[in-house]
Order: sequence, then structure tokens, then C-alpha cells
Amino acid sequence: MQYMLMIDEMNQLMDRDSHTYDHSVRVSSLAKVMALGLNLNERQTNHLVTGCFLHDIGKLRIPIEILNKTSSLTPNEWNLMKLHPGVGTELLHEYQYLDKEIIEIVHFHHERWDGEGYPNGLSGRDIPEFARICAIIDAFDCMVSNRPYRKGLSVGEATKQLLTNAGQQFDENYVRIFIKLFNL
Ligand SMILES: [Fe+2]
Repeated sequence: MQYMLMIDEMNQLMDRDSHTYDHSVRVSSLAKVMALGLNLNERQTNHLVTGCFLHDIGKLRIPIEILNKTSSLTPNEWNLMKLHPGVGTELLHEYQYLDKEIIEIVHFHHERWDGEGYPNGLSGRDIPEFARICAIIDAFDCMVSNRPYRKGLSVGEATKQLLTNAGQQFDENYVRIFIKLFNL
């Protein structure tokens, strides 16, 4: 039911920014495997998968020129881009039935374990657990995806990046579980 409420927004995202839409589908599919591996119950699985599907919904309100830019973002453009977790959170607050755990994934998926992320600079276990998991899957999918302006990393290289950044950017415990579950 919660999933169905979001169909309109995600359809808009598909029309406007198909790259982000496809990425969201892949991240939620990987989240489903994580949920199974973590033995989450049905309700928790629904929260993790739905939150991962919606994590970048705030990009609906970010100028398309910025989303499609193939060169580096200017500091101003980067500041706008960094608004997407907060914008997505506001957008989802209109849906009274959505669980807090889902909205937290959208809000905090760019926080970093070391506190250097955004929007709130949360660190360690202060970052909601499912947002920490989403951050790992999100980063992995971004790294291995081809873009018009760059070729994606190999799975091996992306795995190495996850391990290098475990304990700094990512929750090391979930990096290890992710790597084990997917036999990386
Ligand atoms: Fe994002």
C-alpha cells in the first residue's frame, strides 16, 4: 500500500530523469537481497526496500540541467544538489501513512559514518540503520554504473572502494555483510 502511494512521484521521476529512476530500481532490488540476508521481517523488509526505491525522490525538484550535467558541478550547483535528501523528505511528509523508517532513509542516505556527510552531519549509529545500509548500496550502484561521460568501475574495483571507505564513509559491519551476501 505504501509502495502504491508513491507510484505517481516515481513515474514523474522516470519521465524526467530516467537514470535516477533506473538507479532507484536497482538499489531497491539489492536492498531486497540485503533484507533477506539480514533476516528482516516483512514489515522491516518493506521499509528498507521502499525507502531505497524512494531515496532520491527529492531529485524531482532539482533543476534538470544540474542532474544532466556531464562536467563537474560548480559550488552553487553542488549546494543545490545537496538539497535533495531534505526536499525528498518534505515531499514524503505529505503522505501521512508512510513510516518514519522509510522517510529516514530518504533524509539520511548521504550521511557518512565519520560525520562528514549531509544534510545533518550525523555520525556512526546516530545515522538510522537503514539509511546506513542504503548509503552502501547507493554508492556501489553509482560506482559500477556507466554514465555518458564515464565508464563504471568493475565490481572488483567498487568492492575495493567500499572496503577502503568502510569505517569512514560507511558502516563497516554492513559493508562486510553486503560483500559477503553478494559474494563480491
Ligand atoms: Fe541521493
